[in-house]
Amino acid sequence: MSEEAFVVVKDLRKAFNGTVAVDGVSFSIEKGEIFGLLGPNGAGKTTTIRMMATTLPITSGDVIVAGHSVHDNAPAVRRHLGVCPQELALYPELSALDNLMFFGQMGGQRKAEAREQALKNLELVGLTDRARDRVSKFSGGMKRRVNLAISLMAKPDLLFLDEPTVGVDPQSRNHIFDTIEGLRDGGMTVLYTTHYMEEADRLCARVGIMDAGRIVALDTPRNLKATLGDPDHVSLEDVFLKLTGRRLRDVG
Ligand SMILES: Nc1ncnc2c1ncn2[C@@H]1O[C@H](COP(=O)(O)OP(=O)(O)OP(=O)(O)O)[C@@H](O)[C@H]1O
Ligand SMILES: [Mg+2]
Repeated sequence: MSEEAFVVVKDLRKAFNGTVAVDGVSFSIEKGEIFGLLGPNGAGKTTTIRMMATTLPITSGDVIVAGHSVHDNAPAVRRHLGVCPQELALYPELSALDNLMFFGQMGGQRKAEAREQALKNLELVGLTDRARDRVSKFSGGMKRRVNLAISLMAKPDLLFLDEPTVGVDPQSRNHIFDTIEGLRDGGMTVLYTTHYMEEADRLCARVGIMDAGRIVALDTPRNLKATLGDPDHVSLEDVFLKLTGRRLRDVG
């Protein structure tokens, strides 16, 4: 593991009242990389992200972002970060634009700056024409896109996306993929969690396969598949099955 990587996660653990949810997870993310955590329900993906985002106390281990440890300087870590949580965090009675402006102003932006950034982000997620509509009228996929736009309000250079495509129609899903790939092309570093193997395969430069609180394999999707045979004829689902004896989609 590279000590100079933009994000370094070292032997991270979390126990909830004696139950171990994350059990010695280590990985690093290079600047400009989309790194995936792929695993079934309960694998420990959200718990890992919450510790990395400084919103959940760490039992042991460390997270270092741009040289800052979450233990020594959590505010410096947070200044890099945009977090798109698994649960939607929106005000349904406000318009998409007002939702974004609210979060921007909460983060210390002046109204004009928040408005400019909000309009830019709505365009990025393909919702410019719905900017003034109430979020309560949006589809699940459109709400997810608003959630993603909110996580970009503070102009982060590191984005944590926790299952951003759950409950999303194919059109919104493609918008979300395009947005993430566009952000990556602009230099954004992304941590992406999913239990959809084809998403990890398509989007992520490298993938950590998680099961029961541990990373059981970590490599490029192609190298992971090559451990089983011709990577063009093997899926990450097959890799998960081989590693754990179970199917991703059946677990949890
Ligand atoms: N606040 C909590 N208190 C007790 N146990 C918890 C808490 N949060 C998570 N857990 C447990 O930790 C384990 C990992 O949960 P986590 O939510 O991190 O998994 P996940 O990989 O994000 O799953 P999903 O795909 O369903 O979102 C689970 O067994 C879960 O029940
Ligand atoms: Mg989760």
